[in-house]
Amino acid sequence: MVDHLHQDEPVQALIRLLADGEFHSGEELGEVLGVSRAAVWKQLQKLQSSGIDVRSTKGRGYVIPGGLNLLDARQIHAMLSPEANSLLSSLEVLAQVDSTNARVLREGQKWGKGYVCLAERQTAGRGRRGRQWVSPFAGNIYLSLSWTYEEGAAVLEGLSLAVGLAIVEALESLGFSGIALKWPNDLLWQGRKLSGVLLEMGGDPAGQCQVVVGVGLNVTMPASAASAIDQPWVDLQSLSPDAFGAGGVTRNTLAATLLNHLLPLLRDYARLKFSHYQAAWEARHAYAGQEVELVMANSRVRGHLLGVDSQGALRLLTDDGERVFYGGEISLRPGI
Ligand code: BTN
Repeated sequence: MVDHLHQDEPVQALIRLLADGEFHSGEELGEVLGVSRAAVWKQLQKLQSSGIDVRSTKGRGYVIPGGLNLLDARQIHAMLSPEANSLLSSLEVLAQVDSTNARVLREGQKWGKGYVCLAERQTAGRGRRGRQWVSPFAGNIYLSLSWTYEEGAAVLEGLSLAVGLAIVEALESLGFSGIALKWPNDLLWQGRKLSGVLLEMGGDPAGQCQVVVGVGLNVTMPASAASAIDQPWVDLQSLSPDAFGAGGVTRNTLAATLLNHLLPLLRDYARLKFSHYQAAWEARHAYAGQEVELVMANSRVRGHLLGVDSQGALRLLTDDGERVFYGGEISLRPGI
């Protein structure tokens, strides 16, 4: 896909005008933007090639059906709790970036703790295990935030599970229910993936280290992008369509609520550690008590899923007795 949206002012202005979901004539758009109709047409082509559904109807002009609910730093700021606000060093909302995680890793040193980056679209969204994270424009949440710890990476054991829990709790506080956690940090709804977390590290693992927490949350996944997702998935809009009506939840509400839960977690984690979050995590454990297979780089283990320990490791009852695991991918064993 062509990289047109980044730092491209006329395109940004055009997106903001069309975000209302109303028809706008080429003439009107040209006047507001201060460019010719031909130039407007060129910009509209850019939007389309970036995956935005702009349609034209003879005699009426251009429209984005259903409009766009764009991210807005001011609105997000206004919904932050005083606590989260005090922990924030910078809040950045971009139209497009390669990956918000990559951006925060690049720029994070400047801002230290509490640097937050959100983007409308990622061109190289990163998932766990080298996968891509499908990141179409203005439908979902792509959020990364950084924190630094003086004590080295060892204090971060279990943090990725606690982040998953914080996201579930944030969504529950907005009235969403039935969301479960698949170890280590996937959010599932009825077995389908709703959100994923990617933690990346910078700095010195034995001293001052930087952690970047990346959250991808499916909110309104356009059908055109869905075909690229290689696993069962769900978005918030389809699990609770009423929540998004007039005066309801927006992506700005979601972003602020996530930050209200994640920033205090990052501040407190080195002191509280995973044991503080263990019971709440287990209460939402998707596959507790089920027969699973854990796939690791060079081996597979089958067992009965017991839960997680106080460090966030997975507890499996195998043929060799109880064992704990720190990495790997779980799948349910069908037909058992
Ligand atoms: C997973 O595979 O489950 C983790 C997905 C994490 C995706 C998010 S989107 C925001 C941040 N930026 C990225 O490039 N990845 C994370």
